[in-house]
Amino acid sequence: MLNSRDTWDRKIDYLRISITDRCNLRCQYCMPPEGIIQKSHDDILRYEDILQIVAVGTELGIKKIRITGGEPLVRLGVIEFVEKLNQIPGLVEISMTTNGILLAEYAQSLKKAGLSRVNISLDSLQKNRFEEITRRDNLDQVMVGIQAALKFGLSPVKVNMVVIGGINDDEIMDFVDLSRRYPIHVRFIEFMPLGRSNISHSEGFVSLNQVKEIICDNLHLIPIGVKGSGPAESYTFEGTKGTIGFIAPLSHNFCSKCNRLRLTADGRLRPCLDNNLEIDLHEQPGRIGDNDFIRNRFIDVLRLKPNHHSFLEEGNDISNRNMFQIGG
Ligand code: GTP
Ligand code: 5AD
Ligand code: SF4
Repeated sequence: MLNSRDTWDRKIDYLRISITDRCNLRCQYCMPPEGIIQKSHDDILRYEDILQIVAVGTELGIKKIRITGGEPLVRLGVIEFVEKLNQIPGLVEISMTTNGILLAEYAQSLKKAGLSRVNISLDSLQKNRFEEITRRDNLDQVMVGIQAALKFGLSPVKVNMVVIGGINDDEIMDFVDLSRRYPIHVRFIEFMPLGRSNISHSEGFVSLNQVKEIICDNLHLIPIGVKGSGPAESYTFEGTKGTIGFIAPLSHNFCSKCNRLRLTADGRLRPCLDNNLEIDLHEQPGRIGDNDFIRNRFIDVLRLKPNHHSFLEEGNDISNRNMFQIGG
C-alpha cells in the first residue's frame, strides 16, 4: 500500500462519492434561488468509472466509502452499484447519506447489497416547515424511511439536522426526543457558508454552543467522545435509546482530524469541503484516465489537501459548488 498520509500527516482512508447532483428535494440552503442546471448524462461518471477510481483508491489506503449526492437514491442502478463496490477488496465499510425519501423502498435491498449504514438528512419534524425548507411535501416518506432503515439494520442510523436560526432552531428538543424514543443518533450540524444559498449565512448561523446550552437546560448530557472517525462529538443521557452529537466545523474546528477526500459526480477529486481546489480525473473530455493516471491524481490531491478550512477567513472565496454538488 502506498502512503495515504497527506502533507499534514493526517491518515486519509475515507472517500465520499457523490454519484449524482440531482435531488428530489430543493432545500433552501442548498439549492440556489434560480434552481440548478443539471449536468448532462455525459458529464457524470459512469458506475464503471467510479468502481475503477475506488479500486485505485483502496491501493492507496482508502478503506471507507460514503455514497452521497444530490440524493444518491435517485440515480438508477444504485443497488447494483453498491453490490459491485462491496466486491472491491480492501473496503471495510460502505455507507450512504440520503434524505430518506426513497429509503422505505430501498432499505432492504441496500442492506442485502452490502450497505452498512445510512445517515439521513432531516431539518424539521413539522410537516409545514419541512415543506417550507425543502420546497417539497415529503416528511411522511422520510419518517417511514427512517423506520425502514432501523428495521432492516442499516445501523447505526444517524439523523443530520442543520440548525438554522429563525428557521428550525426551536425544534432542538424535538430532535433530542427523537433520539430518546428510537435508537437513532441525532447530530446537530452548524450551518456552513457554502455555494449560493437562499438563506444568508450571517442570518442563519447558530453556534452549536448555544444549541448545547438549550439541551443542557433540559437534561444532563454525558459525553461519550468522538465515535469512529466522524466529525461528531457524541453524548448520551438517561433513559435514551439513541445518542446526540454535535458537528461544529465553525465553533469547534475538527480539521486536524480530517480523514477524507471527496469525489464529485463529474469526476473531480476535492481535497476539502471548503475549497475550490479540484483535481480532474479525466484524461480527455468524457474519458477518465487509466489506473496510473488516477493514482497520480490521488497523490496530487493528498499533497494539496489544506490543513484547515477557511470558512471564517476574511476574503475567503465562497465555494464554487453548492452542497448538492459535493455531497456534504
Ligand atoms: P459518520 O461517519 O457517520 O460520522 O459520517 P459523517 O458525519 O462523516 O457524514 P455525513 O454525510 O453524515 O455528514 C454530516 C455533516 O457533516 C454534513 O453536513 C457534512 O457536510 C459535515 N461534514 C462531513 N465531513 C466534513 C468535513 O470534512 N468538513 C466539514 N466542515 N464538514 C463536514
Ligand atoms: N452547512 C451545513 N450542512 C449542510 N448540508 C447541506 N448544506 C449545508 C450547509 N451549508 C448538509 C445536509 C446533509 C449533508 C449532506 O450536508 O443537510 O445532512
Ligand atoms: Fe438535496 Fe441534500 Fe441539498 Fe437538501 S441538502 S437539496 S436533500 S442535496
